[in-house]
Amino acid sequence: INIAVFASGNGSNFQSIYEATQSGRLKANIALVVCNKPDAYVIERAKACGIPCFVCSPKNYENKEAYEAAILAELTSAKVEFLVLAGYMRLVGSTLLKPYKNRIVNIHPSLLPAFPGIDAIGQAFDAGVKVIGITVHFVDEGMDTGPIIDQQAIRIEKGDTRETVEARIHEIEHQFYPAVLNELFEQAAVK
Ligand code: GRF
Repeated sequence: INIAVFASGNGSNFQSIYEATQSGRLKANIALVVCNKPDAYVIERAKACGIPCFVCSPKNYENKEAYEAAILAELTSAKVEFLVLAGYMRLVGSTLLKPYKNRIVNIHPSLLPAFPGIDAIGQAFDAGVKVIGITVHFVDEGMDTGPIIDQQAIRIEKGDTRETVEARIHEIEHQFYPAVLNELFEQAAVK
């Protein structure tokens, strides 16, 4: 299956997905990286992995439709069948949702529906919850609202700080996301 990874920042999840495709733990091919931030580190990572990266600033387009139409053209020419959002900090609109219905997933660092939106880990920490986690879900027009595919819970231990929790969440994400994706792709429904 040909996938595209969408990212806006560091791209550590892109890296773990890429490594899983290389080791065979994830049976998929990353055909394209899509990045909306021209200075994001994920662009360097994609280059180092030899994966084409489409960098597109929304502000260079007249509106969201035109921005997403440009992305769609790249996805089509790269024969991308499935979109994997990994730290992509924009809402996906109908221009991409329609052609990729049920074929867009996202990872979010909370046990959704708790703490959607930005800085989920900070939100959870401030709320004082003792169990946090990560969610992989299908993407719809809402903010972190689509059907949940899988979740993993993580306990906050005594002595944990925001930083230690953040580090643990990212470490677990890097194992969890490729594994959930592989399971999903093995299901005939999305082939
Ligand atoms: C991850 O925590 C992911 O759950 C969230 O954004 C972060 C992206 O990190 N959606 P990275 O760019 O993959 O390092």
